[in-house]
Amino acid sequence: MAAAHPLAFPPPSGRPARLVVLVSGSGTNLQALIDAAADPAFGAEIVAVGADRDGIAALERAERAGIPTFVHRVKDHPDRTAWDAALTGSVRQRQPDLVVSAGFMKILGAGFIDAFAGRIVNTHPALLPAFPGAHGVTDALAHGVKVTGCTVHLVDAGVDTGPIIEQGVVRVTDADHADGGEALHERIKTVERQLLVEVVGRLAREGHRIEDRKVWIPA
Ligand code: GAR
Repeated sequence: MAAAHPLAFPPPSGRPARLVVLVSGSGTNLQALIDAAADPAFGAEIVAVGADRDGIAALERAERAGIPTFVHRVKDHPDRTAWDAALTGSVRQRQPDLVVSAGFMKILGAGFIDAFAGRIVNTHPALLPAFPGAHGVTDALAHGVKVTGCTVHLVDAGVDTGPIIEQGVVRVTDADHADGGEALHERIKTVERQLLVEVVGRLAREGHRIEDRKVWIPA
């Protein structure tokens, strides 16, 4: 059994944790974090929102809340490594305690993961390790599962393979097979937003340690 690691990042004392949130779409998870962070007791502030594309509702949500934004599109860089380096640079400049991937639909590169190791949180719309990747909701539905849900986890070098922090369960109904998973994804997102806010708040206030893939947040 591996030895316990020390805290992956120390609980910030006397100041809110600095969050950078990465987005690609509608940004309802981001909105939940923005709303939660309005209360100083949450213990975290969103210092920037980054995206891999322009013209998305998530960026409008950030702008409405007065949060600085940045965009790095893969196609504006010579290759994926250069894109990853640009993204890493923009995030590093904001000196985050935690990076939250909230509906960010690009795989983060090795450089990014090394730079923020143990401090990148992702939310995924399935019960990992089942149904990783970009189609977690429809893959679960196609497999015929009766329950699915969402997973908030730390990001490692694999695709949705990092240590699990918390999960939420959602039942699949027969009707979910009729609309391609849209209603199911909305039900998952309702659970997911609450879970993400709860986990990010606890991490920001308490920090965490990782032991043999298990993530422990002090009570
Ligand atoms: C969320 O359900 C999130 O889990 C999913 O995208 C949605 C974003 O919603 N992410 C993935 O599928 C990543 N593989 P939002 O833009 O409304 O927050």
